[in-house]
Amino acid sequence: LENGLARTPPMGFNNWNATQCGADFNEAMVKSIADIFVARGLKAAGYQYVNIDDCWAEQKRDSGGNLVPNKTRFPNGIKAVADYVHSKGLKFGLYTSAGTKTCNGTGGFPGGLDHEQQDANLFASWGVDYLKYDNCNNQGVDAQQRYTRMRDALARTGRPIVYSICEWGRTGPPRVWEWGEPVGNLWRTTGDISDNWSSMIGKAQANRALAQYAGPGHWNDPDMLEVGNGGMTAAEYRTHFSLWAVMASPLLIGSDLRKVSDETFSILENADVIAVDQDRLGRQGTVLSSSGGKVVYSRTLANGDRAVALSNETTSTATISTSASAIGMGGSASYTLKDLWSKATRTTTGAISASVPGHATVLYRVSRDGTSQRYEAEDGTFSTGT
Ligand code: DGJ
Repeated sequence: LENGLARTPPMGFNNWNATQCGADFNEAMVKSIADIFVARGLKAAGYQYVNIDDCWAEQKRDSGGNLVPNKTRFPNGIKAVADYVHSKGLKFGLYTSAGTKTCNGTGGFPGGLDHEQQDANLFASWGVDYLKYDNCNNQGVDAQQRYTRMRDALARTGRPIVYSICEWGRTGPPRVWEWGEPVGNLWRTTGDISDNWSSMIGKAQANRALAQYAGPGHWNDPDMLEVGNGGMTAAEYRTHFSLWAVMASPLLIGSDLRKVSDETFSILENADVIAVDQDRLGRQGTVLSSSGGKVVYSRTLANGDRAVALSNETTSTATISTSASAIGMGGSASYTLKDLWSKATRTTTGAISASVPGHATVLYRVSRDGTSQRYEAEDGTFSTGT
């Protein structure tokens, strides 16, 4: 969606993966997340949006037809929370559904279908900067139509609001990635992620086939991060974060940051990996080869470097290899490989290879030695420099 927003994939937080509709989901939590974003360096690392998900509302609209914040979770309303988040220099995101009801709670909470403008106006008046629009209870109304209606309603508010389509790629043709570009800033390509290896890698496998649809302002969304939720090993979480970065995916932290380890922060704050995700060229990486669970991804970056992920989907250590010419960088006498997790750098004449433990991913940034870099702009033009 060309609304000037999400020129790189959105970065932030969403409570769903950590709390769902549990009692922990409340004003205190959201405020703490904003505090932690500032205190623990996440804001400085680029995380910006503090978003809340389903179950924030009361079961019924008020007599004027307006949505009402849940009195127990948000006794001071949503605007008070948004104001707090804004006071920290961050942005605030909210959720509703493109149906008569949302997906969770007893029977769901009121949704936006046929209330698009009223709800969009209310959200704008509360200071909402990001809307996740879910797909439950949609009464069989065409998805493209429903999501376009809310896009237009948001635009009419005059407030810049990132628009996240949560249709899961379920219906079609045309599938959401085929109609999403002029409608939303991002769209879910899969059903819900859970905090385990097979769910996470399944999302990556589905999403990596859709690279051609992504670009600045319009991203594939393989769902929010599970890093820190405890169901995967540190190596698996590094794979998760690496693949999301190579695939130019939104980086929405899904763990309760009040409870996570230092190791979780160190994964989420890896500046080199974040730089791959946020590369301004905005080109999603693609799979160069995949055989027997040994998968090579390559992503072209704005300065001509490549991010190369050697990803081991098997449970035992394997050597995974590619080469400078295979990733489209042939012709130089030597290259520098920087391992974005260990930070080690080495020189190679073209071989790109590593021994990768089961479920781990080695992520390299590959650059040509001895040549000035080419900087490719969003519009496809090049400039040179060092
Ligand atoms: C389905 C979505 O895919 C999830 O991310 C979450 O928003 C839930 N609905 C909330 O009910």
